[in-house]
Amino acid sequence: MQAISIPMEFATVMEQLQLDRLYSWFDGFVEPYLDTDPDGTANIHLKIVHTRKVCEVMALLCEGENLSSGATRIALAVALLHDVGRFPQYRRWRTFRDSESDNHARLAIEVIRKEKLLEWLDPAEQLLIEEAVRFHNLLELPGKFRSPDQLFIKLIRDADKLDIWRVFVELQNLPPDQRASAATLGFADLPEVVSAACLNSLATGTIVRLDSVRTLNDLRLLQISWAYDLTCATARKILLERGYLTALAAPLPEREDIATAVSAALSSLTSISA
Ligand SMILES: [Fe+2]
Repeated sequence: MQAISIPMEFATVMEQLQLDRLYSWFDGFVEPYLDTDPDGTANIHLKIVHTRKVCEVMALLCEGENLSSGATRIALAVALLHDVGRFPQYRRWRTFRDSESDNHARLAIEVIRKEKLLEWLDPAEQLLIEEAVRFHNLLELPGKFRSPDQLFIKLIRDADKLDIWRVFVELQNLPPDQRASAATLGFADLPEVVSAACLNSLATGTIVRLDSVRTLNDLRLLQISWAYDLTCATARKILLERGYLTALAAPLPEREDIATAVSAALSSLTSISA
């Protein structure tokens, strides 16, 4: 696990007013996507709320990690824009599964450029934002970056995970017929079934791969394994406080091997935070 290099001072040119304009743009951009059938509206609504919550948690991370106000504004712009590709993705393919449609991070860059959202910014700052958006959903970070610092990439990956945990915990508390279908990625809810490959990954402290996920329980294991991928101490602290991992683990079959793997993931948060 890499340590995050903060605090940092950026000679930022983004002003609060410009960030406010981006927020207003977002509200106008997403509205037409809500005008669809009830299932589609529920799924789009989920992504709008997700974006707002990622912005909220990003603010907490920036505060906890003592970022400057300029760096915080960049981080908040990244949080606001990281999933704008989800809206054209859902309209065109009716799914949030990238493997069945297109990479939503790439689609987000298309939106950012088509809408000329960042053209008023210093090119170095544009690059910081675009690269964080582009890489926010990768299983592993690439070896090479164009931007000089990966701070915002790390922050958005942590903030995004923190809110995806919230979404799933809230969803699993709803009766199955009330769950927005696209949010569970269509995986079968088979209460006793856990795939060995997924459990092995979690048990060895590695991130469960989405292509090894077969059931909703596997998806829970995948999300629990993200605990090993958090980069900043504030994110680990928030995760522990919110109790998402325990909530995600609650519906899993009562088995010793599963319990051991889950408690190792939980302990890793405390041992690193300490
Ligand atoms: Fe996201």
